[in-house]
Amino acid sequence: MNPIEERLNSCFDSIRERLPFRPKTALVLGSGLGGYAESGDIRTEGFLDYQEIEGFPRSTVEGHKGRFVFGHVGEVPVVCMQGRVHYYEGYAMSDVVLPIRLMRLMGAEILFLTNAAGGINTSYAPGDLMLIRDHISSLVPSPLIGPNLEGLGPRFCDMTDTYDSEYRSLLKETAARTGVPLKEGVYIQFSGPQYETPAEIRMARALGADAAGMSTACEAIAAHHAGMRVCGISCITNMAAGVTGEKLSHEEVQETADRISARFQKLVTAGILAVGQ
Ligand code: HPA
Repeated sequence: MNPIEERLNSCFDSIRERLPFRPKTALVLGSGLGGYAESGDIRTEGFLDYQEIEGFPRSTVEGHKGRFVFGHVGEVPVVCMQGRVHYYEGYAMSDVVLPIRLMRLMGAEILFLTNAAGGINTSYAPGDLMLIRDHISSLVPSPLIGPNLEGLGPRFCDMTDTYDSEYRSLLKETAARTGVPLKEGVYIQFSGPQYETPAEIRMARALGADAAGMSTACEAIAAHHAGMRVCGISCITNMAAGVTGEKLSHEEVQETADRISARFQKLVTAGILAVGQ
């Protein structure tokens, strides 16, 4: 068998007995939503530490806990990834997206992605939330390179409506109803871990990108390939390199993410309810 598929299946076999229910929605918690599992918005029913899953890649970034959290948001059964795996940590792309595929095997049909990103669009400001309309992933390897996982999806995967247009409409309505301002734009994935140079950000702007990050696009590809319906929201934690001339720091990213976490959380919860019906 294909080694990527073998690893995925053995991860799934080691946890299938421990799943409290079949999740409908998978939620990836980015910066600013790390406390989501402990919030009143989800009735938590179980945890599964990544380190308990044999063969599972580990997250090493500060402030990212590594576990799946199971619970209900309203009536929607949800599995959350508290802590994601980043390409810049040194993993193969197939490892980076293994948790996404695992949540698909658990039964999740919807993937709700969140992240921190740098604002490229000069009309954005730190603290803005951006609905992801589309992405540019051409600067990082595709997670679908290698033998195709025939059981999950096709070799040549259409990417026309990766960020589900019906869900985008629902999320825009939800944002308006809940009074949370929401921009909409194109996310570009860089490998990191260094932030981009001003020249790279000018290039990204010329290519049509509105926000830059180091995750998410590869996760969306793997999920879309596996037949999940995907949506995503970026928290603009800082203006990208060169936009204001200020230097970038991880502290600023964390600070902004923490500052707007209540608003972000409110929108994500309302969004899960809206798309999970
Ligand atoms: N660039 C890339 N990733 C990021 C940024 C950024 O400016 N801010 C938060 N994540």
